[in-house]
Amino acid sequence: MANESKFYPYARIVTGVAVAAVLLILVSNLRGFFVRPEDDPEWTPPPGSELVTQTAEAEQQVASGPGATLYAQHCATCHQPNGKGLANVYPPLAGSELLQGDPAQSIAIVLHGFQGKIQRNGKEYNGVMTPFGNLLSDEEIAQILTHERSSWGNSAEPVTPEMVAQVREMTKGRTQPMTEEDLRKLKPVSQ
Ligand code: HEC
Repeated sequence: MANESKFYPYARIVTGVAVAAVLLILVSNLRGFFVRPEDDPEWTPPPGSELVTQTAEAEQQVASGPGATLYAQHCATCHQPNGKGLANVYPPLAGSELLQGDPAQSIAIVLHGFQGKIQRNGKEYNGVMTPFGNLLSDEEIAQILTHERSSWGNSAEPVTPEMVAQVREMTKGRTQPMTEEDLRKLKPVSQ
C-alpha cells in the first residue's frame, strides 16, 4: 500500500501523457480520413491526366465532325440518329429526294420550318417542323445539311454558308413555316 501511494503521482503523469498521445494520433488520423488530396490548395493533378481527356475529345470531334454533332443536338430527336425518321410522324432524311436535290429547299425548311400534308415513300406526313433560323448560324446550317446529304447512304454536294445566306435573304421577313407549294417556287442556289 505504501509503495502504491509513493508512485501514484508518477502514474498520473504517465497516464496523462499516454492519453494525450492516443488523442493526438486519433485526431490526426481522423483528419486524414476526411481530407482529400484535391482539398489541398497546393495539390495539382498528376501531369498528363488533363491531356488524355483533351485528346479523347478531339479524336471524337474529328471522327464525327461538327455537322454530326449539330445534327445530334437539333435534328435527331425527330428524324432519329439513323436518319430514318418515324413512319407517318417524321419523314426520313435517309434517301430523301428533297434533301439531295437543290439545297434551296432544305435550307428554307431549316430556316423557317415545314408544315402541311406530304407523301414520302408511300406514307403520309402532316406534321410541323419548328424553324431554326434564329437559333443556328449560316455556317451551322451548312454543316448540318452537308452532314445529312452525305450520311446514311445519301450522296449530294456539300452546302456552303453562302448558299444559306442566299436563301435567308430570299425568304427574309417570312414568319410561317414553308409548305410544299412554297418550296416549289424557290430559286435554286446550286451553280
Ligand atoms: C420537332 C421535330 C423536328 C425536328 C427537331 C426537326 N425536324 Fe425536320 N421535319 C419534321 C417534320 C414533322 C417534317 C415534315 C413536315 C410536314 O409534314 O410537312 C420534317 C421535314 C424535314 C425535311 C424534308 C424532308 C423531305 O424529304 O421532305 C428536311 C430536309 C428536314 N426536316 C431537316 C431537318 C433538319 C436539318 C433538322 C435539324 C436542324 C430538323 N429537320 C429538325 C420534324 C422535325
